[in-house]
Amino acid sequence: MASERIVRPGLEGVAAAETRLSSVDGRAGELVIAGFPLEELAGRATFEETVYLLWRDALPDARELEAFRRELAERRAPAPAVLEVLQAAARQKLPVMDALRMAAGLLSLGAGGAAPDDADAVLRLVAAFPTIVAAYARLLDGRAPIAPRPDLPHAANYLYMLFGAPPLPERVRALETYLNTVVDHGFNASTFAARVIMSTQSDLISAIVGAVGALKGPLHGGAPGPALDTVFEIGSAERAEAVLRGKLARGERLMGFGHRVYRVRDPRADVLAEAAERLYRAAADTKLYELAGRVERTALALLEEHKPGRNLKTNVEFYTALLLHGLDLPTGLFAPTFAVSRVAGWIAHCFEQQGQNRLIRPDAEYVGVKNRRWLPLEQRG
Ligand code: ACO
Repeated sequence: MASERIVRPGLEGVAAAETRLSSVDGRAGELVIAGFPLEELAGRATFEETVYLLWRDALPDARELEAFRRELAERRAPAPAVLEVLQAAARQKLPVMDALRMAAGLLSLGAGGAAPDDADAVLRLVAAFPTIVAAYARLLDGRAPIAPRPDLPHAANYLYMLFGAPPLPERVRALETYLNTVVDHGFNASTFAARVIMSTQSDLISAIVGAVGALKGPLHGGAPGPALDTVFEIGSAERAEAVLRGKLARGERLMGFGHRVYRVRDPRADVLAEAAERLYRAAADTKLYELAGRVERTALALLEEHKPGRNLKTNVEFYTALLLHGLDLPTGLFAPTFAVSRVAGWIAHCFEQQGQNRLIRPDAEYVGVKNRRWLPLEQRG
């Protein structure tokens, strides 16, 4: 008899847990982070404030914030073995996400000799991700890594380790807005991966390594690089339609558009578009920003023609690309910089999973044959 179970490929529309961390309303185009509408929080909070808020469900007061900032800042330098692995990875020119995945696993090694306990590990993960990414980016370019500066805030220190000079305030603000915007987003694939691992009562570092692996895929965190490549390939606004039509005709997806949950414009796209505009204006060069706007408008019109009624709209990745490019980050650093933020969200979800744990173990509907009979090797073929 056929099973009555409903199979939902991709688990679309299935709520697998309750969360207080973020609310994603795909129809209204609203994102709430720990109670704050994204637009209220992203452009105001420091990244440390956002992490504190997610983990403790309240904004810190000045004393709490200073203590939290210090706890993170003193854990930025990972164990020396991390640098050795990054050097080996750089010799093989591995992508940054692969290097980050390998190095994240090594954070089980405490920097000071003793293995970190859970409380130490969560801080160490958030603190060390920027150090790993920045060190590896420099190694890939044949340059020496720059040691973290504990006196700088988290976002400013990341830019300092990448470029070697304390960054301008508007660049720090742009990066913090980005980090706050992407810190958490419901049960996306990498967060779910982390929670599945955590639900087995495995350890936190394993959960984060799994999440990095999930984020690496182009359908999740790997889209902003290709989204920007498309803008560059187009080069000037009058070529937008021909280039984008060509891609759609070849069956390619337009990167930076479409979303599993949003059926309207991703609210993160607006926040990041505004932050990007401010950044490009501060640098007195808005050419690329304006071209991206033209490309976006053309893409939206063509996607409506291509999939009428499917509402394929701009997603977070399109303006992520523009913003991070404006901060002089190469495209290879876009997904890793996403991870620099999202690691805090993954950890918050790991806490939640621990607090309400039930092993995540869905079913699969078997559609293969049954009742096969074993044939000895000499009788096969
Ligand atoms: N360009 C062209 N066609 C598209 C696009 C796109 N960007 N997105 C969806 N479609 C088409 C699909 O080909 C599909 O057509 P079909 O029914 O003929 O097969 C139809 O629209 C429905 O798409 P789905 O694949 O069902 O949508 P899904 O919810 O699985 O996909 C996804 C969401 C993966 C993000 C998709 O829109 C996509 O591939 N976008 C481009 C990649 C991208 O920007 N990824 C970043 C997402 S944001 C994030 O994860 C942080």
